[in-house]
Amino acid sequence: MRAVDATIRRRLESDVALIREVAEYIIASGGKRLRPAMLLLAAGAAGYGGRHHHELAAVVEFIHTATLLHDDVVDESGLRRGRKTANAAFGNAASVLVGDFLYSRAFQMMLTVDDMRVMAVLAEATNTIAEGEVLQLLNVHNADTDEVRYLEVVRRKTAKLFEAATRLGAILGRAAPENEEGLAQYGMHVGTAFQLIDDVLDYSGDLQETGKNLGDDLNEGKPTLPLIYALRNGTQAQVQTVRHAIEQGGRDDFAAVLEAITDTGALDYARAQAASEAKLACTAIEQLPHSKYRDSLLQLADFAVNRTH
Ligand code: IPE
Ligand code: IPE
Ligand code: MG
Ligand code: MG
Repeated sequence: MRAVDATIRRRLESDVALIREVAEYIIASGGKRLRPAMLLLAAGAAGYGGRHHHELAAVVEFIHTATLLHDDVVDESGLRRGRKTANAAFGNAASVLVGDFLYSRAFQMMLTVDDMRVMAVLAEATNTIAEGEVLQLLNVHNADTDEVRYLEVVRRKTAKLFEAATRLGAILGRAAPENEEGLAQYGMHVGTAFQLIDDVLDYSGDLQETGKNLGDDLNEGKPTLPLIYALRNGTQAQVQTVRHAIEQGGRDDFAAVLEAITDTGALDYARAQAASEAKLACTAIEQLPHSKYRDSLLQLADFAVNRTH
């Protein structure tokens, strides 16, 4: 991970000072670096002994960072990683454009591996993430969004990059097709669990730990699983509260909505769904040979569900 961080810093280089300023602002503020860690672990689990994994792990983190820069503009979020979002600090235009820089830099970097399959995986993943974000836009303020539609967004906007990370590790290690598929499925399920919990934390997290504001999703009128479940299982009054909040957006109804989702057990339901995704993730890599890498991947699946940050 130290080597990945060194690669990240080196690759941020540009003679346009504002690019470095904005990119370093968000990258230096931390983040869990979960996707690069998973790529390294998948490569290790597949027996990889080369040096391309650091570069590809940095690629995946750049793509992730680009999506965050864009996402915070779209979501009008003010806080990330415990400080002002880049859009709040530098404005929307700088955030969008530096996000584009990071995307395109990631594509320059992946050329160094000189492998068409690597290119194909990353090209498909970035395209799918964009589809996911647009699909989600269509659901905003729509209280009829159901769990299937919601999951479709999650698979695309979040799980796909996790899947790409673990698949790339497998490709580097020249894993047998069934092991590559297992690692890819693992990534997809962990990514899904991860977003389910992110959506739970948006209602119940601790700002000090998540580094993000609570209620961003409600503010935007985003129908995430806790709301969808409450709409399905609430009393008439609760349904009316949640429906109104989704349709209007804003933070005024936060307390009432939180009560409705707590009361209906919606947060527990979403956590249980995340736990079952994590279980599927672990099953998907059962057939891999035992190694400390595989053990760490199993632990990471657990972290995706039980995390508070
Ligand atoms: C945030 O991802 C965006 C989601 C997919 C929920 P992370 O929670 O991995 O963000 P950092 O990199 O650790 O800040
Ligand atoms: C994840 O969704 C966004 C991406 C996959 C880019 P969120 O909008 O929930 O992520 P946060 O909560 O802002 O980190
Ligand atoms: Mg967001
Ligand atoms: Mg969120």
